[in-house]
Amino acid sequence: MADKKPAILSVDGKEIELPVLTPTAGPDCVDIRKLYGQGDVFTYDPGFTSTAACDSAITYIDGDKGELWYRGYPIEQLAQDSHYLEVCYLLLYGELPNKDQLADFETRVTRHTMVHEQMNNFFRGFRRDAHPMATMVGVVGAMSAFYHDSTDINDPWQREVAAIRLIAKVPTIAAMAYKYSIGQPFVYPRNDLDYASNFLHMCFAVPAEEYKVNPAIARAMDRIFTLHADHEQNASTSTVRLAGSSGANPFACIAAGIACLWGPAHGGANQAALEMLKEIGTVDRIPEYIARAKDKNDSFKLMGFGHRVYKNFDPRAKVMKQSADEVLELLGIHNNPTLQVAKELERIALEDEYFIEKKLYPNVDFYSGIILSAIGFPTSMFTPIFALSRTVGWISQWKEMLSDPQSKIGRPRQLYVGETKRDYVPVSDR
Ligand code: SDX
Repeated sequence: MADKKPAILSVDGKEIELPVLTPTAGPDCVDIRKLYGQGDVFTYDPGFTSTAACDSAITYIDGDKGELWYRGYPIEQLAQDSHYLEVCYLLLYGELPNKDQLADFETRVTRHTMVHEQMNNFFRGFRRDAHPMATMVGVVGAMSAFYHDSTDINDPWQREVAAIRLIAKVPTIAAMAYKYSIGQPFVYPRNDLDYASNFLHMCFAVPAEEYKVNPAIARAMDRIFTLHADHEQNASTSTVRLAGSSGANPFACIAAGIACLWGPAHGGANQAALEMLKEIGTVDRIPEYIARAKDKNDSFKLMGFGHRVYKNFDPRAKVMKQSADEVLELLGIHNNPTLQVAKELERIALEDEYFIEKKLYPNVDFYSGIILSAIGFPTSMFTPIFALSRTVGWISQWKEMLSDPQSKIGRPRQLYVGETKRDYVPVSDR
């Protein structure tokens, strides 16, 4: 990164020179690493609204233009022309694979889709009505109890094996979490199926009859995986990086990412968005909910709307909206009331002063639930599907951080607003 003219910060009359780093795209960064040492002050940015926590070459987002690139390739092109395992290769290694590289990568992932047979026992410990995200956090974390030969984070080969194992096994675990929640037997992965078809088969096949994957549905599923694969330094990726910075093993780090993604302000929004659309129910009730979303005294937010970075359309939402139309058409679901409410809600919101002024647009979670519901998933499986899609992004960012010689444990400071020093008072005197 070429440096620009330094920034000058004046603190208590003392001028501190801070280098300005120039990225290949996006805003310049004022390098404040020496600020505390030189100026005896911290910066204050609780939600990291103006803070770059790392440098990365994986994903770039322009929130104003509504652009998203994976390793420089626009998401629209990848969603249209690529497929998820090729995108996984791109995110992990930085370049699109040639034919042989792609075939080898797909074989390696396919050969790792089974989990250790004893892992099945973990599921028995959960209630059947446990949320599948709770099961996934537990079972993915427990992978570190089985795959000891890929937990040494200082060994590049073990990092590579852990990455392949996680990309390959998290869908199997997600499918097992689903099967367990509906009381059906687990379905083993099949090496003759592509990644998305295999996931659909593990979720929807039953021993009593053959399950034929619909190739068009598998294509839509694969596209959903691609759209969710990575997204720069979002909350769950930052969680994975922070966990990884302590030297925690890759399975523990990804389990931490799954836990963070679960929140309704983050990956849990796809479940919350569909539940909100169903609660609204009909187009005539939309104004009531728009009013609630604008009411400062009402904690209600339009789920699937707004974004920390996108102050324009989320490019993934555009692709997802088009895919929703295609999938519902394919399944012969016409005039789906939930999709009607979603489209009308989007139209009304985008004309409303409040949403225009706050630059609130539909995000990736607004339409995804409609597709997943039409395919046959319950809302509780929406975030597990987000988690399995994002595993490659998490592990790519984790690998990038560990291969950076500058990487050190993440340890933010604070603005202390508590009591000044005081002496202990025995309970007899209180
Ligand atoms: C994801 O970071 C990522 O990249 C995440 C993600 C990824 O791929 O990893 O893109 C995936 O998490 C998408 C976001 C899914 N979440 C939701 O759809 C939940 C609803 N959205 C909001 O909770 C909110 O928009 C956030 C959390 C997404 C963003 O919050 P910010 O950036 O902290 O913004 P904010 O909450 O400060 O909102 C700014 C203003 C506020 O009003 P004021 O205090 O300025 O008066 O906009 C309002 C908010 O009240 N606002 C909303 C709103 N979102 C923000 N008002 C109504 N409905 C909403 N959805």
